[in-house]
Amino acid sequence: MPKITITAALPYANGPVHIGHLAGVYIPADICARVQRLRGEEVLFICGSDEHGVPITLRARKEGVTSQDVVDRYHKIIGDSFKELGISFDIYSRTSNATHKELSQAFFKNLYDKGVFKEIRSEQYFDEHAGQFLADRYIVGTCPYCKNEGAYGDQCEKCGSTLSPTELLNPKSALSGSVPVMRETINWYLPLDEIQESFLNEWIGSKSHWKSNVIGQCKSWLNEGLRPRAMTRDLEWGVPVPLEGADGKVLYVWFEAPIGYISATKELRPDDWEQWWTGDSRLVHFIGKDNIVFHCIIFPAMLHLRGDGYVLPNHVPANEFLNLEGQKISTSRNWAVWLNEYLEEMPNRKDELRYVLTSIAPETKDSEFTWKDYQTRVNSELVGILGNFANRVLVLMQKYYEGVMPVVGAVREPFALFDRNLAGVSHPMVRDYISPVVELLNNYQFRDAQFKMMELARLGNKYLAEHEPWKLVKTDAAATAQVLSEAVQVLYNLALLMEPFMPEASERLLLQLGAGASVAERKLFWSANPQGVGQWCELAEGHSLGAAGLLFQKVEDDVIESQIAKLQATAAESAAALGSTVGTNDAAGEVALGIGDVASATVDVLAINAIKPDVS
Ligand code: 2FM
Ligand code: ZN
Repeated sequence: MPKITITAALPYANGPVHIGHLAGVYIPADICARVQRLRGEEVLFICGSDEHGVPITLRARKEGVTSQDVVDRYHKIIGDSFKELGISFDIYSRTSNATHKELSQAFFKNLYDKGVFKEIRSEQYFDEHAGQFLADRYIVGTCPYCKNEGAYGDQCEKCGSTLSPTELLNPKSALSGSVPVMRETINWYLPLDEIQESFLNEWIGSKSHWKSNVIGQCKSWLNEGLRPRAMTRDLEWGVPVPLEGADGKVLYVWFEAPIGYISATKELRPDDWEQWWTGDSRLVHFIGKDNIVFHCIIFPAMLHLRGDGYVLPNHVPANEFLNLEGQKISTSRNWAVWLNEYLEEMPNRKDELRYVLTSIAPETKDSEFTWKDYQTRVNSELVGILGNFANRVLVLMQKYYEGVMPVVGAVREPFALFDRNLAGVSHPMVRDYISPVVELLNNYQFRDAQFKMMELARLGNKYLAEHEPWKLVKTDAAATAQVLSEAVQVLYNLALLMEPFMPEASERLLLQLGAGASVAERKLFWSANPQGVGQWCELAEGHSLGAAGLLFQKVEDDVIESQIAKLQATAAESAAALGSTVGTNDAAGEVALGIGDVASATVDVLAINAIKPDVS
């Protein structure tokens, strides 16, 4: 059985994660990992903090602390909140640790020794006061397009243009505010141009099963023609370049961060980590759309050039972005719902967040989170459909049978939920509910899969409404037993089917059903039948149910009103703070660039082609 290595983009450790990150990357990745485990596959789910890069150093400088202080703080906040939400990583590591330093340096050295890199001299901005080169966001100035005076060396946040440092008008150092000079430096470049011809065109061309948004972005890169890209930077903070005479240079963050997936695997499985990265192991990267080029072009190019049997990604189900209350999520403007704050304020609504974010996951296009919609989905779907069905069934079962599954006897057709003559993949409940959910999950369509799962709850409610066991009980005891037994079986299968989407609610429901559901049974449920499409599981006559309880609680108006008020207040505070620093190029104000954050969406992507190296 092939191993499955599932990775979720390593979040930058310079701010907490927000709902955009969750909807785009971490929740779908977690659903996928959980499903594979339930099926009994050998799976590792890998993540960790991305602890290098310029925004971290700028934040540290602004706060007057060290970069290590910044990443220590956010690594803990992020790791704890993922755990709390039930994101089931097998490891949540970090790129400032020793294993990662060693492995990423060895990877670089291996490519260097193979003669892969081009050593290129180029002129880059240098701050004579600070005595350092100004890579990426260290340089600020006026946007040549919209004249925004606070544009960065890689992007103007006001008009969205992607820039290269030399395009900025009136460039200034973000460190000292002084006017930088051009100075020559040497860096090592990955020859993406050569790899495009010899490998990438064909390899990407073979990925017909990838999502169209992913293929589209890759093709547009390839059509533009790739250029060599620097894999080192003149910076202090990062993994030092492991070459003689390369003092003051570190590995480019997008070179070493994806290697973080490998080093985290090594940390977790020191004895057999290589097996997860070689052979027939299947590698799946969950990312946001801003990370596509790095995971579909640069990292595969690195792995390919490395050789040594490394597997390349089998799938990269990248998502689009989530907006919030009609605006783009912005960390610098504090227009976000932060996971750590959500968990503090609503500790008993974890699965509600997972459910809502999966319902609106930006799988094919950008989507929108509003607090009102959150309230509606929780109240009418989780409370009104799923919770209501569960509660009615369990309460009636207690009332009529003291919670013990009744003897049904001969099934009477008018009350039957499905045709019992059909079995295996033709079993009506497998064919119409379980198998479609499994297939949608196999296809990375988590949003539709969850919707389909909820259809089973809808069916349950419809079945109860049709047969009205609370009336039937007065006239036909045998039919009542049949109807309520069928309803319990629906609820049981629903509890099993819910698990990857809402693990805690699933567990609560299984407890109320008096059914722990053993590992073997879960495996059967998720992968039985020759096609691996699952199986309908049933609780036996005489089985004792647990105590009934409410599965979900209604969200009252005041809860969402206070969330909206908080969002507006913090955004206003942040605008005032940013306004007071306008013109001083407060680059450190940009907290967390990253998945779901447009700020970084095109930065490095276009910078690949913006770099015009002196290859002579
Ligand atoms: O966009 C981001 O948030 C990056 N920190 C993702 C890195 S993914 C991987 F390559 F490490
Ligand atoms: Zn601009």
